[in-house]
Amino acid sequence: MAQQPGAQADAGETRPVCVDDLRQSAAARLAPAVWDFVAGGSGTESTLDANRTALDSVSLVPRVLAGIEKTDTGARLLGTSAALPLAVAPMAYQCLLHPEGERAAAQGALAAQVPFVVSTISSRSLEEIAEVGAPLWFQLYWLRDRGRMTELIRRAEQAGCQALMVTVDVPIMGRRLRDLRNEFTLPDWIRCANLEPDGLSAAHAHRPSESAVAAHTSIAFDSTFGWSDVEWIRAQTRLPLVIKGVLDPRDAETAVRLGADAVVVSNHGGRQLDGAPASVSALPWVVEAVGGQCQVLMDSGVRSGTDILRALALGADGVLIGRPVLWGLSTAGARGVAQVLSILRTELEEALLLSGCADLEAARTLRTLVAGARG
Ligand SMILES: Cc1cc2nc3c(=O)[nH]c(=O)nc-3n(C[C@H](O)[C@H](O)[C@H](O)COP(=O)(O)O)c2cc1C
Repeated sequence: MAQQPGAQADAGETRPVCVDDLRQSAAARLAPAVWDFVAGGSGTESTLDANRTALDSVSLVPRVLAGIEKTDTGARLLGTSAALPLAVAPMAYQCLLHPEGERAAAQGALAAQVPFVVSTISSRSLEEIAEVGAPLWFQLYWLRDRGRMTELIRRAEQAGCQALMVTVDVPIMGRRLRDLRNEFTLPDWIRCANLEPDGLSAAHAHRPSESAVAAHTSIAFDSTFGWSDVEWIRAQTRLPLVIKGVLDPRDAETAVRLGADAVVVSNHGGRQLDGAPASVSALPWVVEAVGGQCQVLMDSGVRSGTDILRALALGADGVLIGRPVLWGLSTAGARGVAQVLSILRTELEEALLLSGCADLEAARTLRTLVAGARG
């Protein structure tokens, strides 16, 4: 398969020096329809693009003469100790990218000592992933089968997951034009391992001008869930509860009132409502609204240590890393994921030092300039 210059991370000849090197490597390796499934957003992809533009528009104002030699990137996210203020975002069907799928990605997270979030629709089961020994959180989608949801929560607890993350921005799957054009269909050997034996027949069945993954979602997911259902979930488990996919501060306030331990400010990597704001643009509102009553995480578009520092300076406690992990996974399995996370660590350490911050607490006191306004 064609290789682009600087993309031989697998061969060990040229080590990737930034996350984008692994993106290029993944783009050269993956089948075009799988690449599109990972890279694509919904509609015109305006929100997908906005995530990057908005992050790039946040300038960090460094402090000088701070007299520091080393920086400490250690964080505590929802009671889980992490070497970095980040977790690997929940992402479906990782066996599309590597035969070991989520097991390899979790090995990368273990090497980096950061939490790995298992998706409800992972292609390896919770239990198979837990064998790896990484710090795990479990992500729950709202299923039509409520009994199945309670069973999944019990399984997550038994597998040692340290938090439950409920994704609330997928009543239906956003209209992803690349997948529609590709008539994207999961190969037969991809499992929806946590939901067996129900199988994935809808996602395996090719339909003209349709995405089979979207078809499966509309069969399996319940679009009518509401805040009273979040109350129900809160009552089902003592695990820390995370609400993922919040952009409006009023929703963040409700999440806090109902007992959420964290919210994730997220537009699902630009894959749900096209036209939604960039996550980083919504972050300061949400931080202000929750007023320290719960942790605030952010995802969508984070690609460097500088981006992580931007999120921290705007008040986040940490970030989730999405697609870059899949780029590393498809390039070199567990080693590729570890490389992505190690690059982010090096970049964050350097950005902290260059901005005069000894640790994450200091990072939160940095000033920002956003599109000319003083932050
Ligand atoms: C291929 C792919 C699959 C995803 N699957 C899930 C999922 O199963 N559950 C979920 O809550 N979010 C899912 N997401 C969204 C991510 O958790 C995260 O919000 C998003 O990828 C962050 O944006 P980024 O990729 O730009 O970093 C998925 C994203 C991608 C790219």
